[in-house]
Amino acid sequence: MTDHRLIHDAECLNTGTRPVITADHFVTPVDQFFTRSHAKIPTIDEATWRLEVGGRCSRPTTFSLDDLRGFSRRTVAATLVCAGLRRNEFLLLGPLPGELPWGPEAASTGEWTGIPLREVLDHVGIGDGARYVEFTGLDSVERHGRQFGFGGSVDVEKALNGDVILATHLNGAPLPHVHGFPMRAVVPGWIGARSVKWLGRITLLDEPSTNYFQREAYRVQHTPDPAKPRDVTAGVAMNAVPLNAAILDPSPEQQVCAGSVRVRGWAMGSTARPVTGVEVSPNDGRDWVPARITAPGAGYTWTFWEATLHLAPGRHTLVARAEDGVAASQSPDLRDSWNVKGYGNNAWHRVAVVVRAKA
Ligand code: MTE
Repeated sequence: MTDHRLIHDAECLNTGTRPVITADHFVTPVDQFFTRSHAKIPTIDEATWRLEVGGRCSRPTTFSLDDLRGFSRRTVAATLVCAGLRRNEFLLLGPLPGELPWGPEAASTGEWTGIPLREVLDHVGIGDGARYVEFTGLDSVERHGRQFGFGGSVDVEKALNGDVILATHLNGAPLPHVHGFPMRAVVPGWIGARSVKWLGRITLLDEPSTNYFQREAYRVQHTPDPAKPRDVTAGVAMNAVPLNAAILDPSPEQQVCAGSVRVRGWAMGSTARPVTGVEVSPNDGRDWVPARITAPGAGYTWTFWEATLHLAPGRHTLVARAEDGVAASQSPDLRDSWNVKGYGNNAWHRVAVVVRAKA
């Protein structure tokens, strides 16, 4: 398939799936899958690649790919959602220097195959005081003048739930380099940043990872510190992705003909909660119609929906919102979602379209 992705940087490290392509494929084709990398893609030779597992465990072990063949394997379907999804809407409220202006294109669904992390942790023996599992990648990111591998951590409870896997395959084929060959963590239901690519080390810790991407980034801080307006160290580390809904088709500012207009998109509950309903508004939230679920979510994946709206000529703001059966819902107001680095936007999704009269 032709690569239709939306490019966000000069080296094509950060690319998003074009929304109408997303809407056509419940499982995103590998060559259309969004990519988010903070440094150059490392070239890894699978013959010499090793996974070190250490820290608070009884038997620290270094595994080759051959050593790992003895573990069982399973496939988990999971939608990977970047924490920066829908950040571009925040730009209506002011600039977010240094942050990528992702729209809804920073989310894709894959069928990930690999070893349940739990099995590897059982093998090395979880030690006393181990409360977090840190993943470190073999890429080389530079921050504050230091080079280090991208990393982050999950709590032991999540690490042991059987759905967190050390993936070697995506959609039935070996992981492409850009997605973490030869092995990556996949932490379903959590922000993409915890699914560390090019995995080199797993460390059991008594406290969350001190990696820059856990301690200083991917944290939600609603009020800037006037002395350090870009710093979010005092914010809350992100883990589960929030309930969300996105309109994929039509796209912002698209011209459509008056009459019946098909609106398509996805919705996703937080932490694998099924979506219980999606509603679409033709007029910026004054009236709502229920959307039809065209492909229900399976565990950690998105749900696809569509609705037919009857639109008269003029400019219309279409809105989508979803529910996942718990009290927390999406805010109508973008300002409630805003935070210093523009993460986790799950306000109602608004898309303005221009409706033309038919001759
Ligand atoms: N892992 C490493 N080693 N380096 C990275 O830059 N980016 C993270 C995560 N894992 C990253 C990483 C982020 S922010 C996201 S959203 C996902 O990878 C993106 O995964 P993908 O490129 O396979 O879509």
